[in-house]
Amino acid sequence: MSSSLFARKDLTAMLAATAGEKGELKRVLGPVNLVTLGIGAVIGAGIFVVTGTAAAQFAGPAIVLSFVLAGIGCAFAGLCYAEFATLIPIAGSAYTYSYATLGEIIAWIIGWDLILEYALGAATVAVGWSGYVNSFLQDLHIFIPPQLTAAPGTDLVLYAGRWSRLGSIQTQLTQAGVAASSLPHVAARFDLIAFFVIAFITFILVIGVKESANINSAIVIIKVAVVLVFIGLAAVALTRLHWAPLAANWHPYIPPNTGKFGQFGWSGILRGASEVFFAYIGFDAVSTAAQEARNPQKDMPFGILGTLAICTVLYILVSGLLTGLIPYTSLNVPDPVAVGIDATGVVWGSALVKIGAIAGLTSVILVMLMAQSRILYTMSRDGLLWQWAGRVHRRFRTPYISSIVVGSFVAVCASVFPIDTLLEMVNIGTLLAFVIVCGGVWVMRVRRPEMPRPFRTPWVPLVPILGIVICAGLMAALPLITWLRLIIWLAIGMVIYISYGRRHSTVQQERARAQGTPTR
Ligand code: ALA
Repeated sequence: MSSSLFARKDLTAMLAATAGEKGELKRVLGPVNLVTLGIGAVIGAGIFVVTGTAAAQFAGPAIVLSFVLAGIGCAFAGLCYAEFATLIPIAGSAYTYSYATLGEIIAWIIGWDLILEYALGAATVAVGWSGYVNSFLQDLHIFIPPQLTAAPGTDLVLYAGRWSRLGSIQTQLTQAGVAASSLPHVAARFDLIAFFVIAFITFILVIGVKESANINSAIVIIKVAVVLVFIGLAAVALTRLHWAPLAANWHPYIPPNTGKFGQFGWSGILRGASEVFFAYIGFDAVSTAAQEARNPQKDMPFGILGTLAICTVLYILVSGLLTGLIPYTSLNVPDPVAVGIDATGVVWGSALVKIGAIAGLTSVILVMLMAQSRILYTMSRDGLLWQWAGRVHRRFRTPYISSIVVGSFVAVCASVFPIDTLLEMVNIGTLLAFVIVCGGVWVMRVRRPEMPRPFRTPWVPLVPILGIVICAGLMAALPLITWLRLIIWLAIGMVIYISYGRRHSTVQQERARAQGTPTR
């Protein structure tokens, strides 16, 4: 029986079945839609929030190198994703790829693991969204009860007329000689703002993908424009000052290690990369839309690699200019890019960045929630998850039940967990998926060399091996507690697989039928 754990889907049958499907997901997305979908998923809390916090805590100005390192790892993985996405242009991303190549148990692990990427990813970004919204509302003198603006237990203090997280303004208080204990403070109970945004986007997703893709395109334009405005204003401000702030703030470029792994120095760059890796997550979400793409064979590699190339350039510019404008020690705030633009002296800049970030993060949440419900849909169609997850709404033609279930889970996570915990779980889960996808491309070249590959990953097995090494290296730089959480998560998944998925799997049932033995 154990060998059946590695039962594989019949690729040829899978492709034929999707080609003949009627009345299911609509094929409405073209190449530009796919790049917009990709950028919509990628530029978000990573650049707008994590750049600052990771520079302040781990890498200093060398956060730029962290971005380069994480970008290289993603490029290798992206090349592998592109081959798979064209070889198997079916909804489900890495999950589908591994089902056809590595077998059911690995596919299950990936599908379960991708929940970390997409569902908790959406939760992470929702927490970042909450930070920017709350900051913007306070600029407008609108105050939401502070208890309802952050994860339970977060210390908030009232300073200079604003409620801020104590951890964010500690350096500022120390510099001003103010004792935190002398300020009014509360402990947060629940992040209502993060909860609200997830509920709202879930509603949009239930209504339909075409509508969602249109809203997404508009938001992506705003988001990229804001990033470009930041780059422009920061470069002009630094040029006017003959780049003197940059020379000062970039010195030392790699702050010395404090004696602890990951706190500055070279290990800090690695740790920083394992955090800012989050900023690249999402390009693989393009491949989850394969079944909704008009011409997946041609458009998928364009969508995946185009997204990655554009984002890498933008990240290097933003992180370099931000740490050039502001000492990295002052960047541990929920809205670092807005703080950076304040330093350019452009008065309307901060409001612009906040509005752009809020819009930008919204589109990331949208794409992630969409990808998550599509993966549940596919897993349910394969019999690995309960049937309700695969039900498509008659009128809206969306997997509405899985959208609602995912939305509810994500809304709760976003409102009760702090951003660091969520982010590290997302990163470790996604890196694991990347490792498996890189391995899968190699395995597939050996097992099925004859299959047509409209896009071929170059230099196999070198590129997959480099992808595996870098992604595994970034995983190794994450804290032990994150590893423990990953193991617990995977163990829960295994219980569900053994008690449900394995017994209801269509692949197992077909196999049993072929062998004339009952499955349950
Ligand atoms: N890459 C996405 C972001 O940074 C997940 O928000």
